[in-house]
Amino acid sequence: MRIRKAILPAGGLGTRLRPLTHLMPKEMLPLGGQVVLQYVLQECDAAGLDTLLVVLNRNKTALFPVSQETPCPRDPVTGIPSRNVYFANQEEQGGLAHAMLHGEAFVGSDPFAVALGDTVIHGGERSLLGRLVEAHLENGAAATVAAQVIDGPAISRYGVFDPVGEPGEVFSVRRIVEKPKREEAPSNLAITARYVFSPIIFQACRECRRNAAGEIELTEAMTWLSERGHRIQGVRMDPGQSRLDIGNPQSYADAFQKVMG
Ligand code: UTP
Repeated sequence: MRIRKAILPAGGLGTRLRPLTHLMPKEMLPLGGQVVLQYVLQECDAAGLDTLLVVLNRNKTALFPVSQETPCPRDPVTGIPSRNVYFANQEEQGGLAHAMLHGEAFVGSDPFAVALGDTVIHGGERSLLGRLVEAHLENGAAATVAAQVIDGPAISRYGVFDPVGEPGEVFSVRRIVEKPKREEAPSNLAITARYVFSPIIFQACRECRRNAAGEIELTEAMTWLSERGHRIQGVRMDPGQSRLDIGNPQSYADAFQKVMG
């Protein structure tokens, strides 16, 4: 089996980057010579994901031409671009898992990838999404999730893996703990913006607990899976690979510096 489809959630309001995001989606921000979404599209190309659904909102229509203007591999005989990008409109911002539910019909019955539209995986020799796809198909998991090492108090800002045993490059996960206190964190491995799921995740998104604001969080959907005995696994980012998060002014500044350096 081959995994070709990916959902790219980009429907959020980007409130931490206001007032900039009143005028421009954060996925349109430049990082070196390209804008953020272009890097994410190229990550998908590198992993053989050629059928993509970008979930956006009605103020982000500028993302449409970006997807058309990002060069991609072409069929060697016909010259037709091999990347096809579709769009869905998230009318209300009900959380990341809510955004993903807009892709249920698009995905159908096969496993699929998820790549957050406001996060770039920078550097490293191997495609992180490609490794997630491989591990997912090899081990028949319900969810395969990228992991990065976060040392120190910053771990409290992330969803954190509770691994089974000593975690190797690919490891089994007992559960995921959202934003634990540092002393209660079950490991130093944090969830990292790239995933592969089997379609059972949509049932999980629909049936899991809502947060206090009524939003559907992906961590809760994964908790729903683990509580029902579905297999979740983590895949560590390669050394030399880093996650560039465009979510707030400081992380954007750091990301720009990293790409230019
Ligand atoms: P974030 O919470 O980091 O992004 O969501 P945001 O909501 O745009 O930003 P703030 O918190 O208001 O500053 C992570 C990813 O999930 C998408 C975002 O676009 C981002 O890629 N997302 C989030 C959605 O697509 N829909 C949502 O309802 C929420």
